Amino acid sequence: MSAQTEYLGAGSVACLGEVLQRHAPRRVFLVTGRASYEASGARAAIEPLLGATPFVRFHDFESNPRLEDVERGIRLFRESACDLVVAAGGGSVMDMAKSVRFLAAQEAGARDCLRDAGGPRRRGAPLAAIPTTAGSGSEATRFAVLYVDREKESLEHEFVLPDYAIVDPGLTARLSPRQTAISGLDALCQATESFWSVLSTPESQGYARRALGLVLEHLDRAVNRPDAAARAGMAEAAHVAGKAICISKTTACHAVSYPLTSYFGVPHGLAAALTLPSMLAFNAGVTVADCQDARGAAWVGRILGELMALIGADSPAGAAAALTDLMRNVGMPVRLGEAGIRPADIPLILDHGFNPGRVKNNPRRLTREELKALLDAMA
Ligand SMILES: [Fe+2]
Repeated sequence: MSAQTEYLGAGSVACLGEVLQRHAPRRVFLVTGRASYEASGARAAIEPLLGATPFVRFHDFESNPRLEDVERGIRLFRESACDLVVAAGGGSVMDMAKSVRFLAAQEAGARDCLRDAGGPRRRGAPLAAIPTTAGSGSEATRFAVLYVDREKESLEHEFVLPDYAIVDPGLTARLSPRQTAISGLDALCQATESFWSVLSTPESQGYARRALGLVLEHLDRAVNRPDAAARAGMAEAAHVAGKAICISKTTACHAVSYPLTSYFGVPHGLAAALTLPSMLAFNAGVTVADCQDARGAAWVGRILGELMALIGADSPAGAAAALTDLMRNVGMPVRLGEAGIRPADIPLILDHGFNPGRVKNNPRRLTREELKALLDAMA
């Protein structure tokens, strides 16, 4: 895996100055959100550091990047002859910047790169990723999500990982309670799913354990009574959860989330969290017959036991209830109907979210019928 240089903590956005000095770019490709760039304080922190270095700002795209927008970004990047990329924003901004800088360096077109995931690849321009939300952890992963005709696709390569992660909780201080909750739930899901993923390793579990502990300690406060300590805790949680899923990937909750987002507009973190309590209870019922983890059902049982203890519950139902309470306490819906999903929408979610390839990381095999029953019970 490529190495990444990390700068963490309050005020660390100033470390972008070191990055600029090291690379002495001719021109910077600056990928940002529309309103968040100003509102987060990123503009006020970053542009003085750029000084006289010319930059081209790319911000004209929706959240959950579409391939057409990525291709537009690639054209702009090439035309403007930039040689360093700086991304300042939430998960969508970072996914966009990661996709553009990776794909712009390849001879093959974007669609061919997505089809032929294993082809030889070139390293792109250096990328510094500066999150302005605490949730996606995208600054720490070697994946970039993009949507092709509403279907979620993922680029995966060591050259997708940003060279620099600059995680400054000060940039999250002005997030609204709703944005804090939605992005924080992404970190919660990524930590939890990483912990039980069949691809987990001792290293990823260490990150996941740390991230989950931080989310449980800080999320409620970051939403309801935010202070610097809660913001710092969530910023670290999100980053460390990103490091966890970079190794283990995500599981069934994320697989089901993509159609909720692309067809029904449910924000990503909430879309993933909606099924998290039910999936925890489902996974806790793993047996030898339906265990997908090569380490065995007893091992998965131990992992789920540790997860319940981390959550402070002594049963799967108690742990699911605690996660549901946390979601309610941060002002989020917990049932499909409250999130705008009708019972009649469930077949479409099954058609697009139940991709056996994507649920294969789940520790317990999940059939389409079982997922339908799980969603029906949440209607
Ligand atoms: Fe996520």
